[in-house]
Amino acid sequence: MNADSMKPANDPTVDYRKLVMQGYDQCAGRYGSIRRNEIEPDINLLTDRLDEGAKILDIGCGAGVPIASTLAQHFEVTGVDISREMVHLSRKNVSDGSFIHADIMEVDLPADEFDAVISFDTIFHIPKEHHRDLFQRIHHWLKNGGYLLATVSDENEEPYLGEFHGVTMYWSNYGLQEYIEILSEIGFDIVQTSSIGHGYDPSHETPEEHHPLILAQKIDLLLQVPDDLQLQNSEPFGDIGYKKF
Ligand SMILES: C[S@@+](CC[C@H](N)C(=O)[O-])C[C@H]1O[C@@H](n2cnc3c(N)ncnc32)[C@H](O)[C@@H]1O
Repeated sequence: MNADSMKPANDPTVDYRKLVMQGYDQCAGRYGSIRRNEIEPDINLLTDRLDEGAKILDIGCGAGVPIASTLAQHFEVTGVDISREMVHLSRKNVSDGSFIHADIMEVDLPADEFDAVISFDTIFHIPKEHHRDLFQRIHHWLKNGGYLLATVSDENEEPYLGEFHGVTMYWSNYGLQEYIEILSEIGFDIVQTSSIGHGYDPSHETPEEHHPLILAQKIDLLLQVPDDLQLQNSEPFGDIGYKKF
């Protein structure tokens, strides 16, 4: 993104979701062609914790390379992307994945379905007032003990527009500390944070960029219920509503 082109994105008459969708439809081919082919090593933070065949949801799967394509070698991958062109590329590039063309804020997925959710360089394209809802949706889709590996942003910023691969793009984000707080409040343990680069092929001259990466785990409420309470209660108790089992 060209920092000189940044402008505030605060016009209530503009549909920024549509702008993101149309922008990625237009630049999908170019984005896919300069995205690096090798998966970022930090993905091992997640994959080392998963069993072969685990179900992974890739939010904002883009052109499917390298994330969905690499994960699909060992896991069952479902990608969701708001851009029709990106989904088309993912289906072409990753024959053994399933891909859904949808806004992640609207898609209907089963509860307790996924062992892991991954999302690289996507959450900051969704208006930040929806980020808590998004993490709540992810929490709902994850199995107890499931993992989220997501890139977020360093600083809390006002939403802005900028030039991105020949189109106008939209960004909206809180900072790392806010994301840690939101995830913790929703019911995630923060396992680890690190930082990754922009993900373009080294042959493409792109200014250096770093994004914080968060690995979080859906708190397994069953493991958290103290033994004495499990034995004494046969009716729902507390906020979490577990019965004796
Ligand atoms: C920078 S690309 C990253 C693609 C991929 N994760 C990667 O690492 O190559 C961001 C992707 O997020 C998708 N996206 C943006 N907003 C979305 C939304 N609300 N729901 C689903 N996908 C979205 C875009 O269409 C685009 O493919």
